[in-house]
Amino acid sequence: MSRHDLVTVRVPATTANLGPGFDCLGLALDIYNTVELSLAVETTVQITGEGQGQLPLGPNNLILQAADRLAEQTGQQVPGWHLRQHNEIPLARGLGSSSAAIVGGLITANELLQAGLDRQQLLKIATEIEGHPDNVAPALYGGLTACCVEAEDVCCIRLDAPRELDIGVVIPRFEVSTRQARQVLPEQVSFDDAVFNVSRAACTLAAIVAGRWEVLSGVMKDRLHQPHRASLIPGMEEVIAAAEEAGARGAALSGSGSTIVAFATDRQDAILEAMVKAFANFNVEATAFWTKANNQGAVLVGEEVSQ
Ligand code: HSE
Repeated sequence: MSRHDLVTVRVPATTANLGPGFDCLGLALDIYNTVELSLAVETTVQITGEGQGQLPLGPNNLILQAADRLAEQTGQQVPGWHLRQHNEIPLARGLGSSSAAIVGGLITANELLQAGLDRQQLLKIATEIEGHPDNVAPALYGGLTACCVEAEDVCCIRLDAPRELDIGVVIPRFEVSTRQARQVLPEQVSFDDAVFNVSRAACTLAAIVAGRWEVLSGVMKDRLHQPHRASLIPGMEEVIAAAEEAGARGAALSGSGSTIVAFATDRQDAILEAMVKAFANFNVEATAFWTKANNQGAVLVGEEVSQ
């Protein structure tokens, strides 16, 4: 069997929840981080792009923690790693930067160590590290994913995401950590709110798959997390409302924020302009652009193979 000296993987950004599908629905985006990993005598880390000067350069780097976890779970000893990462996904903005790191570390280590785990096994480990599957699943598989965690495993159903849908990404200057955004959630919710979300999560998924854009904004509503997170994201509700008033087919907090995503099939310029303006009304500067769904997921690139 040939041995890889260096493995490179490209991992997409993701948007999780899609409004009502809390900890369940996720969508891969056309924005990428690249992870290049090789075995080394001592661990070294080089980072360019987002997080340069901010992310750890030692063993507490999340990519290396994932790689170490894979080595440990497959009973292998690794003296050190050489990691080069180039990041396009901004940190702590709800676009899956930590999931991309975890998935990147697991896939590259799996190849380097010839561990032979399949993507379902990698999803299980990634979910254990991340705590929930809705970002790691689309980062791994691409497309639109619906997941639930079972006692011993993760059930993940992947669907192709419609490429005709434009996805507006509006990223405020400020960060929101997922830990902070989960701390503001209630321990209990009412039966009414649970039914509200279950029914809308199902309709959101069905509307996207069926291309029923005329119903999407009506059903992409949430009572489980967005209202509780509004205090962390000035203007959140107003930006979502501005997107819909300007013609978006739906809009939501991306993951745990701070980014807001909007889905559109037309009126793109007006939608982004309205969203940026709504944030500006709260003195929040935001970067805004359009992207598309990614249907490939994490892809191995540029392998150098010896023997
Ligand atoms: N479902 C998660 C949340 C995604 O909303 O907290 C963030 O990682």
